[in-house]
Amino acid sequence: MITIIVVASLMARTIKKTINFEKNSARQEKFSVLGELSSRIVHDLRNPLTIIKTTNDLLRIHNSDPDEKTIRLLDAQDKAFSQMTSRIDEILDFVRIDKTKTKKTNITDSMKYLLGSLPIPEQVSIKSDLEDIMIDCNPEQIETVFANLIQNAIQAMNLKGKLTVNINSKDKLAQIQISDTGEGIPEGKLEEIFTPLYTTKKTGTGLGLTSCKSIVESHGGKIFAKNNPDYGVTFTVELPLKNNKN
Ligand SMILES: Nc1ncnc2c1ncn2[C@@H]1O[C@H](COP(=O)(O)OP(=O)(O)O)[C@@H](O)[C@H]1O
Ligand SMILES: [Mg+2]
Repeated sequence: MITIIVVASLMARTIKKTINFEKNSARQEKFSVLGELSSRIVHDLRNPLTIIKTTNDLLRIHNSDPDEKTIRLLDAQDKAFSQMTSRIDEILDFVRIDKTKTKKTNITDSMKYLLGSLPIPEQVSIKSDLEDIMIDCNPEQIETVFANLIQNAIQAMNLKGKLTVNINSKDKLAQIQISDTGEGIPEGKLEEIFTPLYTTKKTGTGLGLTSCKSIVESHGGKIFAKNNPDYGVTFTVELPLKNNKN
């Protein structure tokens, strides 16, 4: 009798697993179709958007003495254009994870370059402690990770606060930490923030951290977030250091 019950429960578990597996693979297929579809739509949106932007620039050139209202309207169009392009970039970053192009990279230089070129508001002060670190990576993707984390930090601080960036090496790992003095993250959400489409922002895509996680993991690394004891969050990225024998 006991044997029958055990066998039945094992069978039930196997059937449940098979159903779950089928559900999961159907879900994965759906996601990959959606990924392809959105990447195509987003690509197709680029051309008309560039035309809108160029037309706006031409309108400014042809109207050498615009009144205040015209300037406001042109500025509003420019702002909408940059919002749309940054959303498009986020979606493309999410869809396109290309693992092949790795090269020996000084990630400290990448971080310095980003800190110098990103539009960081004046009320955000930057404190950085950057040791020179080399790793094998796709530099554009790693810059995407850093840029996403910096952008989130600035947004979380409502455009003012202290951004701290540290890069150092620890146990064969490069450790990158980006810390802010913003609102922090509810303890129960510290893992969910990395899942696709999770956002608490009115105009967020909820794809930034998902892209960061897939990029970091495809480089054999880890990414996690922890609330600071006082204010804000620290995001830690750990990546394998460049193997000197290569
Ligand atoms: N530095 C941060 N401080 C507080 N919350 C954050 C921070 N970074 C990310 N988050 C939370 O994680 C969510 C997901 O981030 P992300 O994947 O980049 O998407 P998005 O920025 O489009 O919302 C954000 O909406 C926010 O709730
Ligand atoms: Mg983001």
